[in-house]
Amino acid sequence: MKNQENSALIPLIREDLRQNFTPYSSAASEMGKIDGAHYLNANENPYPFKGLEGYERYDVQQPPALIAAIAKNYQTHKDYIVATRGSDESIDLLIRMFCAAGRDAILTCPPTFGMYKIYGSLQGAKDVQVPLLQESLNFSLDVESIIKTAKDPQQHIKLMFLCCPNSPTGNLFPPTDIEKIIQELEGYAAVVVDEAYINFTRQDSFVQKLEQFPNLIVLRTLSKIHALAGERIGCAVCADTAFTTFMRGCLAPYPVPKSVAQNAVEALRQAEERQEEMVCKIVKSRQILAEAFTQCPDVECVYPSETNFLLVKFISYNAAQHFIKQAAAKNIILRDISAKEDTQNCLRISVGTEEENEMLIHLAETIAKAA
Ligand SMILES: Cc1ncc(COP(=O)(O)O)c(C=O)c1O
Repeated sequence: MKNQENSALIPLIREDLRQNFTPYSSAASEMGKIDGAHYLNANENPYPFKGLEGYERYDVQQPPALIAAIAKNYQTHKDYIVATRGSDESIDLLIRMFCAAGRDAILTCPPTFGMYKIYGSLQGAKDVQVPLLQESLNFSLDVESIIKTAKDPQQHIKLMFLCCPNSPTGNLFPPTDIEKIIQELEGYAAVVVDEAYINFTRQDSFVQKLEQFPNLIVLRTLSKIHALAGERIGCAVCADTAFTTFMRGCLAPYPVPKSVAQNAVEALRQAEERQEEMVCKIVKSRQILAEAFTQCPDVECVYPSETNFLLVKFISYNAAQHFIKQAAAKNIILRDISAKEDTQNCLRISVGTEEENEMLIHLAETIAKAA
C-alpha cells in the first residue's frame, strides 16, 4: 500500500486540493462504520414503488461486487480501481484534479480522442499538442518531442493522454515507446494510457505493468468489448493506492446506479466465457470490411486497425461525402471526420453486426461498379 509520502502522483495534484480539500462523507460511506438496522441518516424515502424495492436506498460509491468483477476481468487488485461513469468521467476528473485552471496544461497527440481537449477546455487547461507522425500507413508517437515538451517548465504540463490503441487512427503504439515516455515524465507529469480498445488487440494491457510505473494511470471501459456503452461504466486503474483513495474522495458520492452495477456484474460474468469469442467475431468482421473497402476505387487507403472500427481515407473530400450520403440513404450512419485537418477525407466506421457490415460492403461494391 502506498502512502501519500511515497506517492509519485500526489505531489502533481493541484496544490489547493492537496492542502485544503476534504472529501464529502456520505451517509452510505458511513454505513459501513456504524451498525444499525434502521438507517435514518440519508433522507431516503422508505416506501419504494412496486417492483423497485431495494432502489430506495443510496448505494456505496464503489459497489464491492462491481469492483471485484472488474478486478477479476482485468487481473488486478481491487484497491487499484476507481469506477466512474464511463471512462469519460475519469478523464474529466483527472484533469480537474491535476490542472489548476488558467495555468496547467495537458499534453495530447492528435489525431486522438476528442474528449481530452474538451475536458481540458472546461477546466481552463491548455491542450499542448505533439501530433502523431504519419509514416506511410502508420501514425507513430514523436517520442523525443513529447518528452521535451512535457519537461518544458514554460508549458506546465501535468497530465499526458496516450490513447492506445488510438482513436480515430486505430493503431497501437510500441510498448517500448510508451514505457520510455512514462519513465521520462516521472516527476513531471502523470501519464494516462487510455485503453478503451485494448481487448481487440493481442498486446498486453498496461494494467499488468502498473507496479513498474509510479506515474501511470490506465483507463478502461465496459463500453466497447463488454457492449455496455449505455450503462456508463469505466474506470481509472492505478497502483498508487494513496492516489486512488484521493481520487475516490474527489468523485461524486453516488456515481454508479445500483441497476447499472448489477448489469455490469452480469456482463463481466458472461465475458468470462464469451469475451474471446466476441473479440474473434469483431476482428474477423473488421478484416472482411477492410478488404472490401480496399477494393473500392474511391478509397485511397484503409488504415490498419487494432480496434472495432476502421479509419478509411477516400481519394477526395467529395468521395468521402458521397459515401457518407449513400450510406445515410440506407440508414447507415458513419462518423464524418473528413473536414478535419489531421484526418482529411477520412470516415471512421464502426464494425457492426454481420448484416450491417454486408450492407456497407454492398454499398462499396455498388460505388466501385459505378466508377
Ligand atoms: C479512446 C476512448 N476513450 C474513452 C472513451 C469513453 O468511453 P466511455 O466514457 O464510454 O467509457 C471513448 C469512447 O468512445 C474512446 O474512444
